Amino acid sequence: MTPVGIDAVEIWTGKLQLNLPETFAPAKDEDPDKYRKGIGLEHSSFPDLYEDIVTMGANAAKRLMERRGLTPEDIGRIDVATESAFDNSKPVSTYIAGCLEQYFEADFRHANKGERKFACVAGTQSIDDAYNWIRAGRNRGRAALVIATDTALYARGDPGEATQGAGAVAMLVDENPDLVEISTEQGYGSMDETDFLKPNQQFPSVDGKRSMQVYLSRMREAVEDFESVAWDMHPDDFAYIPFHTPFPGMVRKAALLGYRHMSRDTEIEDELAGEIGRQPRRDEYTSWDGYEEAIRDYMDDLKGTDQYRAWYDKAIEPTLGISRHVGNWYTGSVHIARIAALKYAAANDRDLAGEKLLVGSYGSGAQAEIHAETVQEGWREEIAGLNVDAQLDARYDLSFEEYETVHDSHNYDKGSVDVEEFTSPDDEFVFTGWGRMNERKYEYVE
Ligand code: CAA
Repeated sequence: MTPVGIDAVEIWTGKLQLNLPETFAPAKDEDPDKYRKGIGLEHSSFPDLYEDIVTMGANAAKRLMERRGLTPEDIGRIDVATESAFDNSKPVSTYIAGCLEQYFEADFRHANKGERKFACVAGTQSIDDAYNWIRAGRNRGRAALVIATDTALYARGDPGEATQGAGAVAMLVDENPDLVEISTEQGYGSMDETDFLKPNQQFPSVDGKRSMQVYLSRMREAVEDFESVAWDMHPDDFAYIPFHTPFPGMVRKAALLGYRHMSRDTEIEDELAGEIGRQPRRDEYTSWDGYEEAIRDYMDDLKGTDQYRAWYDKAIEPTLGISRHVGNWYTGSVHIARIAALKYAAANDRDLAGEKLLVGSYGSGAQAEIHAETVQEGWREEIAGLNVDAQLDARYDLSFEEYETVHDSHNYDKGSVDVEEFTSPDDEFVFTGWGRMNERKYEYVE
């Protein structure tokens, strides 16, 4: 079967940054270590005044198309995943296509465009749609452009304010991909949940602590579902495991659960038995509460073992390298985790071709999806084409007062806020205002 997967990627970060331990924590009278060690974030990205989900998505897609020498005729499908959409009818993909058409002076007239919604898992669902479209033979030799773009802003004072972010990931899904082949096997964990939602309001309603429990439960179910159609996984099966990363502290919890699951009934459990005992089994306990308490104790011990720490440093930590400096990008978050891992491997001269990734996506509301990917021969060259560090380093560093103004300027309830742009656009799409039907307008600035 011809491999189908991700052929190329690009990111676009919001051009402002907030330093969480040094600027945000002191203003909130909090310990900087809550951010550095607990939540695990150093910076959040924010959009400048002329940026939004369309400009970030179009700028990422333009870079991708130019770098890969593509024209609009090469693209048969544009899917945008976002939970920050501003229109209930006209999809963001039409706005992004409009921007790209201005620049490339050609149109996407025969491309199928849409918008996907299921919180943060929608980026992965859009990749699925593209994969299925290609596998069904309906693509006429053309590739799909998948764009995950969000401004993940929370109401001021909400605990989620600490995890904000803004950015876009553009991905080209095609046959014979250069980056990763996607497995046919998938696992799902999906239930109607009220943990995080935006019922026609700009900022989310969040039950933060519950959202973390729901993330872990749905992820566990997705892992079990994946194993039922794939294989019983072992921690060493994967070079890296990129998870949806609302903040690195969340991934720390998911990784520990994953390791416990994958090491059960393996030589790892045998090796650890002398140090921390064997994993508790349900039939050894008369009550569910007793069993759960035993699991919690085992996990506390497990996270301190050399085996677990070495695995975490190898398979998980490298996936967090970008997230730590940009915060939550919602739909793009799991995709920057993949990029961070591949970027780390390239920087450390690791030969990854043929190795596997396990990708754990999650969206509140709630659904987790698990699939495997196989790294392809062209991965190193593709990753070498990215300018992630340059983009992150070029961001304007906000003071706390400037942050408050920027937040207000993106808060629709506040009306217009008198504030100047902090950076100057340079060879990119910018938001210029509203048209006669209240549509948003964009132009390319040289
Ligand atoms: N030194 C070291 N660690 C510290 C510390 C210090 N001085 N102070 C606090 N910490 C640790 C805490 O112990 C905690 O770690 P553990 O969970 O491992 O115990 C961590 O830092 C965070 O501290 P708090 O729990 O006190 O933080 P909080 O209550 O202010 O906020 C949150 C945490 C509820 C997750 C909040 O950020 C939030 O609501 N976020 C938005 C929702 C979210 O991201 N949920 C994640 C799952 S849902 C999802 O993934 C979808 C999505 O993208 C939104």
